[in-house]
Amino acid sequence: MENFDTAQLRRWDQQYLWHPFTPMKAWRQKPDAPVIVRGQDEFLFDSDGQRYIDGVSSLWCNIHGHHVPELDAAVRRQLDQVAHTTLLGLSNVPSILLAKRLIEIAPRGLSKVFYSDNGSTAVEVACKMAYQYWVNRGQPRRSRFIAWQGAYHGDTLGAVSVGGIPAFHAVYQPLCFPVDRVAPPLQPPFASGPRSAGLTWAQGEAGNRQWRANLETLLAGRPGEYAALITEPLVQGAGGMLLHPPGTLRQLRALADRHEVLLICDEVLTGFGRTGEMFACEHEQVTPDLLCLSKGLTAGYMPLGATLATHDIFEAFDADPQEGKTFYHGHTFTGHPLACAVALASLDLFQTRRLLAHGRALQDLLAAGLAPLKSHPHVADVRQLGLIAAVQIVKNRNTGEGYPSAWRIGGELCTRLRRRGLILRPLADTLVLMPPLAIQSENLRTMTNLVVEALDWLPEIVREKENIFGES
Ligand SMILES: Cc1ncc(COP(=O)(O)O)c(C=O)c1O
Repeated sequence: MENFDTAQLRRWDQQYLWHPFTPMKAWRQKPDAPVIVRGQDEFLFDSDGQRYIDGVSSLWCNIHGHHVPELDAAVRRQLDQVAHTTLLGLSNVPSILLAKRLIEIAPRGLSKVFYSDNGSTAVEVACKMAYQYWVNRGQPRRSRFIAWQGAYHGDTLGAVSVGGIPAFHAVYQPLCFPVDRVAPPLQPPFASGPRSAGLTWAQGEAGNRQWRANLETLLAGRPGEYAALITEPLVQGAGGMLLHPPGTLRQLRALADRHEVLLICDEVLTGFGRTGEMFACEHEQVTPDLLCLSKGLTAGYMPLGATLATHDIFEAFDADPQEGKTFYHGHTFTGHPLACAVALASLDLFQTRRLLAHGRALQDLLAAGLAPLKSHPHVADVRQLGLIAAVQIVKNRNTGEGYPSAWRIGGELCTRLRRRGLILRPLADTLVLMPPLAIQSENLRTMTNLVVEALDWLPEIVREKENIFGES
């Protein structure tokens, strides 16, 4: 193995890199993050040769593991043809073949694929398309959107507009377009306290009682003003892996139809098998008007976004140039051939390795592994859908009171788990487990064993925090 000078790399990291979603002062004060140099299957290896289980699928996108021969070969084959060429005025083979393939597997009724670069741009495209759809249909007043409190759709300004996590989004509100937010319904146990960084207990209570009525009131109160409802179907990811009760998506579809607004489903996180179906919409047999995909689309290999539209949406844009209905949006790397080639190879692997069945078979193992935490005095909730699981840690399970946010209990637990060879990333004090779908059962078992053990470290961590910050 090549030798790396980890200390030097860390110095250069500190000097030159600005990390995403990272308070940089704290990052500089604790320069101990692994410098990853390679991956194999569900493992990552750092510059000191330490091995880790990639327990968050490299930010919720890796599907088949790392360094997968079939995927590597697909990229190399495409490199032998052409690395990049534009979709503006030209086409290319992998982007055509992938579009066809996506329409074949997507919820029925979606008929066109519009590519972009990542999850945020897939959402950005959907919002712009939704608005322009109505403009093209002669209803330009429909410029408002409805989204959930605690929603996360990405970091470009359109995606931030429909986001609902104050810590991430509040500062940008003056730059955003108008969005009305409704507290979502959440699966029980809800009474156990605040569930995430994105949502307070009171909001959650209100959501469970009256989300439908709140949506109806908004839609009825501003007829002809809304372009679309947007939802992360079934699971609100960055908001805390919050699960909507079964039937919510179907009710949203019905509400959107009744009030004649579009439904945008953001499956950037839930797409490609994470929830046990290829797409979360399939759990409720719902076809959205616009479907946003990214992350698992390329199995986590390359940046690529796709926004799938129904024929009705496409038809509103399908006009002569002088009619002014063209969708003037497109990125330099839209439909990148390397990314499309690896996405096609990933879909092949879903079939040849029967990956959905493999993922489903692991769901019970994940649930059983985390079951001991369900009655733990410092766990408010263990929730799971497919191979997505979240363990929400609180100071007091009965009152739902959390630890002081400055203690960063979730972060502290993840740092210690990393020293034991497991990479997780928390959402505030909620630990998220989302391994590659292809993970082997013994490694999933190691993950859950470590997380269960980690809860035993809490008393020591609390003592340390009290020494630094004083008693809470
Ligand atoms: C539901 C959802 N939508 C959009 C995004 C943004 O994707 P990206 O980070 O690729 O821009 C994310 C990222 O986590 C997401 O979870």
